[in-house]
Amino acid sequence: MSAMTAGDDAALVERLVATILDHVVDPPSGDDPVVRFAAPGDLVTAFDASVGLALGDDAPAHGADRVEAAVAAVLHHSVQTTHPRFMNQNYAGADPVAVVGDWLGAALNTASSTYEIAPVFHLVESAVLAKLAHLAGFGGPGADAPPSPFPPGLFCPGGSIALLYALQLARHRRQPDLVRSGATAEPVAVFVSASGHYGAGKAAALLGLGTDAVVEVATDADGAMRPDALREAIAASAAEGRTPLAVIATSGTTVTCAFDPLDAVADACAEHGAWMHVDGCYGASALFSPDHRQRLAGVERADSMVWNLHKMMGATQQCTALLLREPERLVACFSSGADYLFQPDKQFGEWDSGDRTYQCGRRVDALKFWLAWKVRGDAGLAARIDHAVAMADFARMVVGASDGAFVPLVDTGFTNLVFLWVPEALRPLDPAWLATPEGAATRDRLHRLAPRIKARMQREGTAMLGYQPVHGVNCFRLLVMNPAVSPDDVEAILGLIDRYGTEEWADLD
Ligand SMILES: Cc1ncc(COP(=O)(O)O)c(C=O)c1O
Repeated sequence: MSAMTAGDDAALVERLVATILDHVVDPPSGDDPVVRFAAPGDLVTAFDASVGLALGDDAPAHGADRVEAAVAAVLHHSVQTTHPRFMNQNYAGADPVAVVGDWLGAALNTASSTYEIAPVFHLVESAVLAKLAHLAGFGGPGADAPPSPFPPGLFCPGGSIALLYALQLARHRRQPDLVRSGATAEPVAVFVSASGHYGAGKAAALLGLGTDAVVEVATDADGAMRPDALREAIAASAAEGRTPLAVIATSGTTVTCAFDPLDAVADACAEHGAWMHVDGCYGASALFSPDHRQRLAGVERADSMVWNLHKMMGATQQCTALLLREPERLVACFSSGADYLFQPDKQFGEWDSGDRTYQCGRRVDALKFWLAWKVRGDAGLAARIDHAVAMADFARMVVGASDGAFVPLVDTGFTNLVFLWVPEALRPLDPAWLATPEGAATRDRLHRLAPRIKARMQREGTAMLGYQPVHGVNCFRLLVMNPAVSPDDVEAILGLIDRYGTEEWADLD
């Protein structure tokens, strides 16, 4: 048994909070390491100095000093996603107010299922969803109306789960006895662009539709769905006897941040009775900015939209809103009527969100974003987007002035830039040449270069940037999400790629 007293506990918690708080209010920046990259075995060794990693058969209770050292090791060896030179993923730069909002929710440790255990959180979730729905033009009670017991959607754990909800609701619209009878054998099709998120296949598999039901629709060169290709795909699958169940339109594809043409998708959905789901995980946050919201023109015609506020908006992971045009369908699909929890004769039971969700308990994810929104205001949220675009524009300028060192491969003009670094001897390089038989050997070498540049960044801890194949060659994508990113950071990252690229190219066989 631990010899720790309640007083010891309080002292330890205060010390740990102080250490973590330091990290939150003064995160690493500039030349501080973005990562101290270590192999798994080295990490195990690193923890040997404090509490060890394994829990063992008879895990001992450790004293405060060792626990504090363990927390310090976690901080030291983790990837610093708030560092402005972390641009590896479609999230970065957690808003410190949202971090505290997350702590607040954890401190109160409840589940968003019934009003009686989470009254404030039901009201907060309803208020946030009303405002998000208002921004997306989904209608509903309006941003100024008092919070409604039946908000226009729900918070759920991530875009992939949100898609499961959306597709189940779509099936329910086609087949109202779905919940009781199970899905009919009617073959259906779900359309998503070739650049859409891989979650579509997983959702189709899990719902028993099968991955064959997912039809990839061709895109333009930027990665946006081509409306003519969508119509052809719907016609071709109808000819095979498949009913168009849903179209997933992506607003902000993961790699190139392409925005599918929502009005054209909505027209096709209306014509064929298909459910229109917008995957706005990444790009829906453009709606916060009056200067950029037109990228989602037509979103108001969708049946559902998912919005990951933990991506561009700095809410901590995860913070995902699913907006619905017909939220009442949630009851038909997910109500269990469990009378031990959703007693019909209790006070304010009409607020209980748990009887219209798949999950029983849910995290109170709306809270952290609500708190950050209250601190930043609409203007602050818009500024976050506008700053990201401004920094991406600065990167465009540097790339444009690089005398061919950097060549944009796809640029949708928003918060990211997909580009190739070109060795000096190959400049100027026309990327189209890489697709020719004469360019194949060079393409292969360039393809092998990006992982080596990335490995140098990790080894030296100087930056983190994602790479992926685009048009058959590995290239980098610079994603700006973090309001702390400055022109110096952009120049530093591009300078690192240039330096590492030159050195690694010389070594590459
Ligand atoms: C465009 C897009 N859709 C969906 C997802 C999946 O969301 P989640 O990770 O929240 O399940 C992502 C990525 O992370 C994404 O970039």
